[in-house]
Amino acid sequence: MATLSLTINNKFHTVEADPEMPLLWVIRDIVGLTGTKFGCGMAQCGACTIHLDGNATRSCVLPVSAVVGKKITTIEGISTNRTHPVQQAWIESQVPQCGYCQSGQIMSAVALLNKNVKPTNADIDAAMQGNICRCGTYPRIRQAIQAAAK
Ligand code: FES
Repeated sequence: MATLSLTINNKFHTVEADPEMPLLWVIRDIVGLTGTKFGCGMAQCGACTIHLDGNATRSCVLPVSAVVGKKITTIEGISTNRTHPVQQAWIESQVPQCGYCQSGQIMSAVALLNKNVKPTNADIDAAMQGNICRCGTYPRIRQAIQAAAK
């Protein structure tokens, strides 16, 4: 066990954890932010996507010791006092079906739009290819990202 200082959603957290514990477990089970989901646990599905220094990153295979000193943002932290425009577009496009993968999808979409304000469909497909949706909501995800970019 080690004492680690983390910055999550612009708040400092001091946690006691095995340095090799995946960040996802720390976020969900120690810090208590459960919006980030566990899907495969093998960096294959994207359900656990968070932002690390602004970049979409899978948290299920990332040791917590590797993120000390970095800025971690979860779905709970993308917008503090209003619905984020990407979340609003998700609502208006009625994207989710079962909903399980959607926080990871939104985190990847927000990271894309922070870097590319006018993505083409090819840009969207490239940025979102690591986020799997078993309900097949991909056309609505693309539609919502295009709507949020307007
Ligand atoms: Fe991390 Fe699937 S749970 S990629």
